[in-house]
Amino acid sequence: MDRYAVLGQPVAHSKSPLIHARFAAQVGEKLLYEAYEIAPDELSGALKRLHGDGWQGFNLTLPHKTAVLALCESLSAGAESAGAVNTLVRLDDGWHGDNTDGAGFVRDVVINLGVPLRGKRVLVLGAGGAARGILAPILAEEPAELVISNRNPWKPEEIAASLKRLGNIVPRTNLSLKGDQYDVVINATSAGHRGELPRLPPQLFAPGALAYDLNYGPAAQPFLNWAQAQGASRISDGLGMLVEQAAEAFTLWRGLRPETAPVLAELRR
Ligand SMILES: NC(=O)c1ccc[n+]([C@@H]2O[C@H](COP(=O)([O-])OP(=O)(O)OC[C@H]3O[C@@H](n4cnc5c(N)ncnc54)[C@H](OP(=O)(O)O)[C@@H]3O)[C@@H](O)[C@H]2O)c1
Repeated sequence: MDRYAVLGQPVAHSKSPLIHARFAAQVGEKLLYEAYEIAPDELSGALKRLHGDGWQGFNLTLPHKTAVLALCESLSAGAESAGAVNTLVRLDDGWHGDNTDGAGFVRDVVINLGVPLRGKRVLVLGAGGAARGILAPILAEEPAELVISNRNPWKPEEIAASLKRLGNIVPRTNLSLKGDQYDVVINATSAGHRGELPRLPPQLFAPGALAYDLNYGPAAQPFLNWAQAQGASRISDGLGMLVEQAAEAFTLWRGLRPETAPVLAELRR
């Protein structure tokens, strides 16, 4: 049986084993998908050993998404522009690194939520790996404007400069957004994990705007509650993105695209 796993630390909370078990059952494939806790200093050795043992692929979660870049034989364009890898596909001599987070985000917003990004003013809050990972796929949707804003002011400048070849990304800081309005505001910060909200000016939401938090569960609540109170017309957490990025990885591994709606509905229940 082909074997896959999510590697992280911590990883026991991961929903990926359940999601991939449902995908496999749905398309009638027999495979094993587990969650393995791997410390940062064990990652290189573990990937060599697991390759030797015949494993077919992995998902990476915190804290491995950036460190694994240097351990890949080849990288997709998406992994290079994201500066992070969340999916490994087996090669004869090692691992091919890909990043399905951005594609998963765009599919959730455009297809599941039915909110086109084309021609929209889009604001991404945060400048970590997750923010960086969604920028190139958003640019490919041809928004009217794509702004990246962060608490730490130098990171957006650096990211916008490094992705300049892909299109125009406007670097800002959170407090300099005063007076601006956006059609889609995406919280890609980790502030919600501590029950916090990035410090933001009021009235960021244009009429009809979507507020989207990459986090889900309690970590999404501070931003989504604030967005609702600020008049955002629609809100969504990132559970759909989680399922969609998993479906992208499953498709890379198995060449078959699973249905995401029933799995997302089960997770919501
Ligand atoms: N749904 C999904 O499938 C999915 C996929 C990937 C990630 N995520 C979620 O996305 C979030 C970000 O992940 P990441 O990997 O990008 O994390 P990261 O690399 O650690 O970056 C964290 C970002 O959050 C900002 N931040 C943290 N606390 C803040 C606060 N109190 N106020 C303002 N900004 C704050 C940081 O700003 P500074 O630079 O100023 O420190 C930084 O830009 C995580 O919570 C993760 O769980 C979800």
